[in-house]
Amino acid sequence: MMYEKEEIEVNGFIPITDDVYYVGVNDRDTQLFENMWPLPKGVTYNSYVIKDEKNVLVDTVKVSKIALFLQKLRGLLDGGTIDYLVINHMEPDHSGAIQEIIQNYPDVKIVGNSKTFDFLKGFYGIEDNLYEVKDGDELNLGKHTLTFYLTPMVHWPETMMTYDQNDKILFAGDAFGGFGSLDGGVFDDEVNIEYYENEIRRYYSNIVGKFGPMVQKALKKLEGLDIGVVASTHGPVWRSNPQRIISSYDRWSRYEAEPGVVIVFGSMYGNTEKMADYVARKLAEYGVKNVRMLSSSTTHDSYIINEIWKYKGVMFGSATYNVGLFPPMESLIKNLSHKGIKNRVFGVFGTYGWSGGGVKTIMEYVEEHKWPMVADPVEVKLTPSEEHYAKLDELARKMADSIQE
Ligand code: FEO
Repeated sequence: MMYEKEEIEVNGFIPITDDVYYVGVNDRDTQLFENMWPLPKGVTYNSYVIKDEKNVLVDTVKVSKIALFLQKLRGLLDGGTIDYLVINHMEPDHSGAIQEIIQNYPDVKIVGNSKTFDFLKGFYGIEDNLYEVKDGDELNLGKHTLTFYLTPMVHWPETMMTYDQNDKILFAGDAFGGFGSLDGGVFDDEVNIEYYENEIRRYYSNIVGKFGPMVQKALKKLEGLDIGVVASTHGPVWRSNPQRIISSYDRWSRYEAEPGVVIVFGSMYGNTEKMADYVARKLAEYGVKNVRMLSSSTTHDSYIINEIWKYKGVMFGSATYNVGLFPPMESLIKNLSHKGIKNRVFGVFGTYGWSGGGVKTIMEYVEEHKWPMVADPVEVKLTPSEEHYAKLDELARKMADSIQE
């Protein structure tokens, strides 16, 4: 069935191919994703409909957006029903509207794997009308045939991806998606893709980054597929250049880095920041063009981790607080250590007043995670002197050499 342009605009569903539609929603209300990660640019919950002899809904949306979502579905289905609901991922930003879908379309069969159904029962008490699939299983809808690929830990254990053989669309769950609402443009060729890529890397590094080896496994599994469209659960739909986001995912999940240095500092009275500024200046003199200096006091960890995912060199500079690490620095370093970051080189410096603690605590993290250091840490009582500046110069030179190797 073809729709009038006006009908599409009013109801807000957007054709991807003749039979496949985008029915996702924007969320510009939620401040923190997972109640942790800032959303200054909003976020989308993407959902898709395949219209065939059997109609399929792929993933749902956060429950707070149910009214808009149902309006889109009703407009698109025009009295028709949903035969199958494919659940690629059970995190509530996508599974939140399942109960309402069942209430509105009571005969719908829920397609997932055995792990999906554990979550479905645990979160929502749903145990009926289940259609279990295993890795590589197919489901024929009439004209379209779907293949299911289990891709555990991208981002949860039950995660899977669904491939439409007819239209060559990969419904990818969280993979390849990012923060940022879709403000008019929905497809990669309708938007300035660089605006979104930074937020996709922030999503990847903070939400999925810990599972790099599992992302690599998933990419291997998908290797032979002819992918014409990447349809993630967040962010733009990649129809013009899906290979671009697939290669970025490959690089990020192999922890590949560009030459550049991120200096993260925690400074109470400006002395540690003074050391950071000196190191930054020296790095520039030694030819490092990408120096990103971020205050742990004023920058959310997610933005710092995003920069660290991009660049090879990482420098921590911290004041001491209560014989330990300055708390915002501790939060950042602990958060980073959960992400399993690899293939980086590190430098450490800091200050103390009457007893050490800041640098010592950073070094405990460095040793625990075997992060390679370019030089010994530089620790200063109160303010740096000439002798300390010489050591910081040496630290910057060694860092510059290491990242340009
Ligand atoms: Fe977009 Fe893992 O949820």
